Amino acid sequence: MALSDTPTVVNSWNEWDPLKHVIVGVADGCCIPPAEPASEPKVPKDSDMRGMHGPRPPETVARANELLNDFVTMLEGRGIRVDRPTPLDFNQEVGTPDWRHGTMFGCTPPRDVILTLGSEMLEATMSYRSRWFEYLCYRPLLKSYYADDPKMRHEAAPKPRLTDKSYKEDYLSEDITMTERLEMVAKKDFVTTEEEPLFDAADVLRFGKDLVVQHGFTTNLAGIDWLQRHFPDHRVHAVNFPGDPYPIHIDATFTPLRPGLIINNPERKLPDDQRAFFHRNDWEIVDSAPPAHNEPPPLCYSSVWLSMNVLVLDPKTVCVEETEVYQAEQLDKLGFDLIPVPFRDVYPFGGALHCNTTDVYREGDCQDYFPKQ
Ligand code: ALA
Repeated sequence: MALSDTPTVVNSWNEWDPLKHVIVGVADGCCIPPAEPASEPKVPKDSDMRGMHGPRPPETVARANELLNDFVTMLEGRGIRVDRPTPLDFNQEVGTPDWRHGTMFGCTPPRDVILTLGSEMLEATMSYRSRWFEYLCYRPLLKSYYADDPKMRHEAAPKPRLTDKSYKEDYLSEDITMTERLEMVAKKDFVTTEEEPLFDAADVLRFGKDLVVQHGFTTNLAGIDWLQRHFPDHRVHAVNFPGDPYPIHIDATFTPLRPGLIINNPERKLPDDQRAFFHRNDWEIVDSAPPAHNEPPPLCYSSVWLSMNVLVLDPKTVCVEETEVYQAEQLDKLGFDLIPVPFRDVYPFGGALHCNTTDVYREGDCQDYFPKQ
């Protein structure tokens, strides 16, 4: 039976059970969107992306697609079914009755947009205007899963209005120093307000019955409250990582590898009071190895800590970017079988191996890994 004939069942409760079916993004037509209130603080004054917008250079798109396709071939070679989203014409102005924006963003990373929990695939609210319509790239797949799997739940969180009320005006100031930014983040003073629920799916980590959600630039407390109400049988825990000046998505900061083991970015440590919850349930949190690079590649939004953005295929097997030699060495010492994946030229498109995937099916069911709440 060809992999494409593998029956569709949506089921994934955590980040580590054996992966059998996954979505991998595509780079076609990806744009650098114009600045907007949520993104501006993330693009430093001296960045090569300042003031730049429009389609990414075609040779970089071709290279990213080549690496994404090679990654897909490797996954399929291991018996994992892979589906791809459908790009839109991202280089067009979009809008709602409240705002207009010069371009969209792209069709990867899927992890940011779709949250799979059990048999449900949930479209996140998103928190950037440029990414408001990105769920449309995943609709053909979600529609087919819904048709093929009678137990699949296709859900969408309320689309936010994303008016100027959803962002803090003073956050745009170019005069804020890095020290001041870190102080703001430590006080949980982020660019987004509590005007309406906001979350990106990549701020959520799934640990069976417990969901661990980063409160930061792309997910606010109202969004975390919405998730708790939406998943009443789960326990939702807000976490913070002081030390990250741009807390956007949790998966280059805190990475569960298998039951009982997490690596944490040593520059963005989980505070002691939040760490206690993991320790009293016998979870070990170890500092991750340093990245192998001093700089992200050109035109990249993310930090060098994409080194930690690994994809766990099962509790013994991890995909790691092939140049991230220190991360690979640490994972090897922790007892994992490693699959090195060339992926660095995909980083500018929004992330590494975890970011560029969304689970459809992992074996296993919903377990309670944190009996001591
Ligand atoms: N925001 C994450 C980082 O760049 C992806 O570290």
